[in-house]
Amino acid sequence: MSVAKLVLEGKEYDLPVFSGSEGETAIDIASLRAKSTAITFDPGYGNTGSCQSAVTFIDGEKGILRHRGYSIEELAVNARFTEVAHLLIYGELPTAGQLTQWRSDLADHDQVHQQLLQMISHFPPAAHPMGILSSIIAAMSTYYSDDEPVDVHIRRLVSQVAMIAAAAYRSSRGLPVVFPRRELGYAANFLRMMFGGPTSDYVVPKVLEDAMNMLLIVHADHEQNCSTSTVRMVGSSQANIYASMAAGVCALWGPLHGGANQAVLEMLDAIHADGGDYKKYMEMAKRKDSGFRLMGFGHRVYKNFDPRASLLKKACDDVLDHLGVLDPLLDIAKNLEEIALKDEFFIERKLYPNVDFYSGIIYRAMGFPVNMFTALFAIGRMPGWIAHWREQDAEGARIHRPRQIYTGPNLRAYPK
Ligand code: SDX
Repeated sequence: MSVAKLVLEGKEYDLPVFSGSEGETAIDIASLRAKSTAITFDPGYGNTGSCQSAVTFIDGEKGILRHRGYSIEELAVNARFTEVAHLLIYGELPTAGQLTQWRSDLADHDQVHQQLLQMISHFPPAAHPMGILSSIIAAMSTYYSDDEPVDVHIRRLVSQVAMIAAAAYRSSRGLPVVFPRRELGYAANFLRMMFGGPTSDYVVPKVLEDAMNMLLIVHADHEQNCSTSTVRMVGSSQANIYASMAAGVCALWGPLHGGANQAVLEMLDAIHADGGDYKKYMEMAKRKDSGFRLMGFGHRVYKNFDPRASLLKKACDDVLDHLGVLDPLLDIAKNLEEIALKDEFFIERKLYPNVDFYSGIIYRAMGFPVNMFTALFAIGRMPGWIAHWREQDAEGARIHRPRQIYTGPNLRAYPK
């Protein structure tokens, strides 16, 4: 075992060093406070590993993203979302027989409880779908007992998150709920629950089904991102799986994280409304005092291109070509990307388009309202959150409890 030596206040401490299966190196500081009373300090955890995990590997410098060893490029082109969900959660791509069984298991648990559907219908029409999604997923814990096998809860969450999101959309428009059909695949079922009708013979166009399938796959997992770390944090207290997933939905909602796809469209809309003067907004993004950030750009880990953005950029062209959609926002997006890739400010800070930059444009072309975009991200990310929750649960991990450095007042007496 190799060690790192830390010299602190004249004393030397040996800290164990270990590596992962891709050669990443970590300094294990678990014993530091007991030995030295000092803690490490890393606001935002940019340099801190919270766990060891076999689910996803990211190399930010090389733009690599793999799930259980399979590259995102291969999965996005060759796999169906339910296969990727099985891979993330159970560690292997399902055989043909296992896939048939997995799909059947999901279909056996895809009906959202009638009373939960009634709850959805009582939210105000302007309610944000992420508020509905987090509430209903948390409420699922009040309908289903912890005594049931965890795999039953997993099947409910993977299959019902799509129906809950679709029901939220339809309820906001006064439309009746559309129920899933056993014979349809996951992506087609979701699109039909969104845009079909209880009696209509709406057939999901294959190009939209395939685009939805790929969009779900590229959002499926991304190791210890903010929302997945939240799921692990909540799960570490041994809170039930529904409470943990609802917490993940809430963390994903923020515009710096999953809410960025909605913020990208709102930004492009604003630029378009402002005469399309994207160069003005590029300059604003470079001025910290402007308070304006180029949404869809930058990433804590990818200091090169986000492989998902590359996949989505191509899908964008394909879907819009097929739909015959000429979207001025896509032209603005491409102009922003072209400038950013040449601009010193962005190059110096390694700010490249991320997964959220192009996804919103495809979603809009497919007919989704902007406030649904982050809910679409949550549907895709559900298997990833579950995979990490299950991995941590199996390890019997300790409750997460970071330390701090106190900066408040020292001891003072209560005034007489
Ligand atoms: C997702 O973690 C994951 O894996 C997340 C995700 C997943 O799949 O789970 O990949 C999904 O959340 C993608 C990111 C979506 N968010 C956005 O697109 C929002 C816009 N991007 C930023 O807010 C930002 O880039 C973050 C939040 C993504 C990353 O923030 P960091 O790592 O904390 O970076 P930072 O804020 O410290 O910025 C470093 C520098 C700063 O400038 P200086 O202080 O060095 O002068 O870069 C600047 C920032 O001001 N900067 C930007 C910018 N992002 C960073 N300047 C303008 N526009 C931006 N978008």
